[in-house]
Amino acid sequence: MVLISPSIISSKLAELGEQIKQSEAAHADMFHLDVMDGHFVPNLTMGPDMVKAIRSVATVPLEVHLMLERPDKYWKKFSNAGADIFLIHYESMCNIRETFKEIENSGKKFGIVINPDTPFSKIEQYLDGAHIVLVMSVYPGFSGQSFIEMSLNNVKEARKFIDKNGLNTMIEIDGGINDVTGKKALDAGANILVSASYIYGGNIAERIEKLRSL
Ligand code: DX5
Ligand code: ZN
Repeated sequence: MVLISPSIISSKLAELGEQIKQSEAAHADMFHLDVMDGHFVPNLTMGPDMVKAIRSVATVPLEVHLMLERPDKYWKKFSNAGADIFLIHYESMCNIRETFKEIENSGKKFGIVINPDTPFSKIEQYLDGAHIVLVMSVYPGFSGQSFIEMSLNNVKEARKFIDKNGLNTMIEIDGGINDVTGKKALDAGANILVSASYIYGGNIAERIEKLRSL
């Protein structure tokens, strides 16, 4: 089954509530919230208050993609704001195992993220108990970038490892996803597609449906 996780970073932000409702009407499975701190990536986006506002409108789960140097210091604030799933970068500067334990103890879900140039083998040790492995198919920081084909290797490696070890971890892909690259990612073994500029750059309902039917 394919799940669609629209990233609202490319939606019409002045009409965010309406855009969220339209996405849910088109059966978005969750929302992908890109949190950037201006240090881990050269861009700034939303904080916990924004997540709280989104939570007041959205009914599906909210996953926060924490592009922060120290996600361990901030995930709780986003949790209190109503986020459900916390995606932590392997490349961030925190103790990943400890942070995952804290998130798990709070009753929420976590996932591990890798950049395009990080080999999948680096994160094998963090997959047990992880709800999601998020494979980046662009270098994080901006929406609207082109899909990096090499990332499909990480998706394939993740699929092999997860199946071999009988894990329930879902494989999500983020960056440059459209109706062509989304198909490649699904064929490689992904089951959650994140998309910002493709979904919000056109008719929301049509594009979500298109991705779901690849
Ligand atoms: C990149 C973000 C992505 C991005 C996706 O730093 O993590 O979620 O917003 O945007 P598109 O789908 O336009 O590549
Ligand atoms: Zn993202």
